[in-house]
Amino acid sequence: MKILVTGGTGNVGSAVVNELLKRGVEVRVLSRKQPEQGKLPTDVDVAIGDLLEPVAVEQAMQGIDKLFLLNAVAADELTQALIAYGIAKRVGLTHVTYLSVYRVEQFRDVPHFASKLAMESTLREFGVPYTILRPGYFIQNDGSLKAALTESGIYPIPIGTAGICAVDIRDIAEAAAISLTETGHDGQTYNLVGPTLISGPGNAATWSKLLGRDIKYTGHDFEQWEQQMRAQMLGWRAFDLRMMFQNFFDRGLASTETEVTRLTTLLGHTPRSYEDFATETAHIWKASAS
Ligand SMILES: NC(=O)c1ccc[n+]([C@@H]2O[C@H](COP(=O)([O-])OP(=O)(O)OC[C@H]3O[C@@H](n4cnc5c(N)ncnc54)[C@H](OP(=O)(O)O)[C@@H]3O)[C@@H](O)[C@H]2O)c1
Repeated sequence: MKILVTGGTGNVGSAVVNELLKRGVEVRVLSRKQPEQGKLPTDVDVAIGDLLEPVAVEQAMQGIDKLFLLNAVAADELTQALIAYGIAKRVGLTHVTYLSVYRVEQFRDVPHFASKLAMESTLREFGVPYTILRPGYFIQNDGSLKAALTESGIYPIPIGTAGICAVDIRDIAEAAAISLTETGHDGQTYNLVGPTLISGPGNAATWSKLLGRDIKYTGHDFEQWEQQMRAQMLGWRAFDLRMMFQNFFDRGLASTETEVTRLTTLLGHTPRSYEDFATETAHIWKASAS
């Protein structure tokens, strides 16, 4: 069996590639440019192409049985997703596992949620066997906060105080590989959520303890946050992320015990927690500093 992974050079996709290889599956990755040497395992086949280019997408699907479809947050995310899906259907792929997002139906005013919701309804309507994965906040997002945490002493992500669900990328990758290699997952939608909720003050306290210094949560002034983000990314993207965090803050993103139990059954182990990831990461940072 051969599986095409879109986003296979990114955070989730590269973990999905590894999980599929572990299960003896042949893997092809679609990337817009030749990945740097060492980025992907040597036995992975690479197809060069953009998800906005149907001809390249169709070429990438030649000799492929199933698709792991991850679409990066982009202004034309839905078009990219529909091109991949339409061609997957046309060439007769037998399964699509799609990476959506937790509570996608609740936040329809967030552009990248609206795209994913539309894509979910396409999957349900047009007949190719599918599995939908709906992950919470990626725990590994916070691996990029080394400078903020260790130098500035701040936890800057405006995730609020109520508690939102989060998931380890390794658990997403396992769930994806299971859905693509085992039976019984057609037509299923899985919420991918870790065992503990996270919050701004809670994460600040976790890192304070692990790093042995005072870390302050910078709070949730969304106006100011969007303005800061605009200096780092295009305006539409800063708006999209602000809408997401503001919605999490206003309406909450807490998962339920039932969802954690269902994921535990799917994975065959308890999902990894934020605290475990933070502990591992703090060790790595301390080791690299000494
Ligand atoms: N971060 C979170 O907390 C969170 C939570 C829930 C869901 N999500 C969802 O997770 C996804 C992001 O996953 P990630 O963090 O793994 O992404 P990532 O690390 O940013 O990687 C993006 C991937 O998409 C590929 N890509 C981008 N534009 C493309 C195009 N036009 N054609 C072909 N490939 C393209 C890139 O490949 P090349 O650069 O090699 O071409 C890369 O492999 C988004 O859908 C997001 O909504 C994120």
